[in-house]
Amino acid sequence: MKILSVMGSPHKNGNTAALLSAYLKGVIEANPEAEINELYLDEMNIRPCRGCFTCQTGGIENCAVKDDMSGVYGNIVDTDVIIYATPIYTFSMSAQMKAFADRTFAVAWQLRNKKIVSLAVYGNPSAEVSGVLGYQEYMKKLCQFAGMKYLHGYNASSGLTPVEKNPKVLDDVYKLGSSLTT
Ligand SMILES: Cc1cc2nc3c(=O)[nH]c(=O)nc-3n(C[C@H](O)[C@H](O)[C@H](O)COP(=O)(O)O)c2cc1C
Repeated sequence: MKILSVMGSPHKNGNTAALLSAYLKGVIEANPEAEINELYLDEMNIRPCRGCFTCQTGGIENCAVKDDMSGVYGNIVDTDVIIYATPIYTFSMSAQMKAFADRTFAVAWQLRNKKIVSLAVYGNPSAEVSGVLGYQEYMKKLCQFAGMKYLHGYNASSGLTPVEKNPKVLDDVYKLGSSLTT
């Protein structure tokens, strides 16, 4: 099983990182053979999509924006599972993650049947107020539109307790990771 783990928070040791790390721990322990490729978007140079549609006329090498995505397209095409891990910023994914998501348009046709995992951390103590529920629906609709399979998702609030200090959240998301199979 090949997994592409995409981390959209700028905080390498923050809440999203803690959630993702517990999830991956569960994945690795249940699937020791899993091949995990980890992207930390904030350290990469990924420019926003320019909407030129050049990529739709000749494949991924035709993306007009030449940056670190050039080296990632092959991993996206090759992987079985993509994990989108993001903090909720202004009711949606982080800008780092949005740039990544938009740029996958270059491989839109090769996304079909890929399994998608959504991990999100929000700051508001209330999921209803935070915007995370709308984000989760957005991810489900995106999967439906692109022919991807929304496998499962986990949303955690960092509002009252940081994720790394929340044993229930860490245990829940670890178990979810353990349930990942292809
Ligand atoms: C620019 C910005 C926008 C945010 N917007 C929201 C929001 O709409 N809803 C919410 O519940 N929390 C929001 N937050 C709080 C973050 O989701 C929260 O602090 C989260 O734990 C950050 O994860 P991290 O530790 O991985 O950076 C926002 C934070 C920032 C910096």
